[in-house]
Amino acid sequence: MRIVVLMGGESTERLVSFKSGEAVANGLTRLGHEVYKMDPVFPKQWVTSDQKLFTGSVGEKPPENLLELPKATLRRLEELLEELQILSPDIVFPVLHGGPGEDGTLQGLLEWANIPFVGSSSLTCHIAMDKMITKKLLEADGIKTPRWLFYSKHSKFDRQQVEEDIQTSFGYPCIVKPNSGGSTVGMTILPNAKGLKEAIDIVLQLNDDLLIEEFIEGRELTVAVIADEVMPTIEVVPKSGFYDYTSKYTVGKTEYICPANLTPVEMKQSMELGKKVWDILQARGFGRSDFRLTPKGEMYCLEFNTIPGMTELSLVPKAAAAKNITFDQVLEMILSTVK
Ligand SMILES: Nc1ncnc2c1ncn2[C@@H]1O[C@H](COP(=O)(O)OP(=O)(O)O)[C@@H](O)[C@H]1O
Ligand SMILES: [Mg+2]
Repeated sequence: MRIVVLMGGESTERLVSFKSGEAVANGLTRLGHEVYKMDPVFPKQWVTSDQKLFTGSVGEKPPENLLELPKATLRRLEELLEELQILSPDIVFPVLHGGPGEDGTLQGLLEWANIPFVGSSSLTCHIAMDKMITKKLLEADGIKTPRWLFYSKHSKFDRQQVEEDIQTSFGYPCIVKPNSGGSTVGMTILPNAKGLKEAIDIVLQLNDDLLIEEFIEGRELTVAVIADEVMPTIEVVPKSGFYDYTSKYTVGKTEYICPANLTPVEMKQSMELGKKVWDILQARGFGRSDFRLTPKGEMYCLEFNTIPGMTELSLVPKAAAAKNITFDQVLEMILSTVK
């Protein structure tokens, strides 16, 4: 098959996406496919599988001044469609993390242009990128999520009010996060009210919507699903105690236990929950949900990722490996979901 792997993009996760994209492109090439790599920000600069689109490293901190281009010049919509038309792939494989590449915007465009692609639909991507809407959907089906407060930049909220709301709802510690972010960028754990204003400012520089959650003490679990098949749960143990950008992308900063060291009942429950989240959101291809497991054995879902990391060392391939499924087999499974 002729496959265009989309990687890079304009979000703060651009560099991570290149890494995932290169790994996916290499795997697809090993499987005998004709692979092209394209960055939707510079569609005309696509390369064949023997060349790299990105040779740098991800770095320990999210990049600042990522592209130094105004938003409008990033959206080369006509060029993107033109180049896709020229290459006329059988399948597009978006490996874009965060921003319009994962939030359903790109998926909507591909759907509209009738270009087959792997992964979740635009609707699922839009929902999953909105943590608050996701929480509402999951809770409606009985899945626990941390209690939360939500504020939109558009409905001008008063910071004093936010402080009072936290006090009267769940108190501290709490987590201040962008409602539609990724890679823990812009997130602050607040042990008390000190620093709240700064934490809000950090979020609003990145995102229009602010989500504040009660802090769920406990262990960190993540459940991958590939082509409707749920993989063994992984436990994530960041050495710093906080699974932030640095812990996520620096080798050695986090321990991954796969399969997680859970009781058989907990393992079964967490995998069932992961599959339930997948089903509720009607996800497709591949995806991963993040959970917290409290000392009392309660599981709280934090979010669902429609395009999780896909380097060979990322969590989805790691979970598959625990079931003796290789990275290349993961890709075959994902491809098989496109009719
Ligand atoms: N309510 C919470 N309680 C405890 N830890 C949290 C909470 N929300 C987020 N975290 C921590 O921050 C990390 C990133 O949060 P998450 O909501 O998954 O956003 P992202 O999209 O950035 O991955 C989680 O993996 C977890 O370690
Ligand atoms: Mg997460």
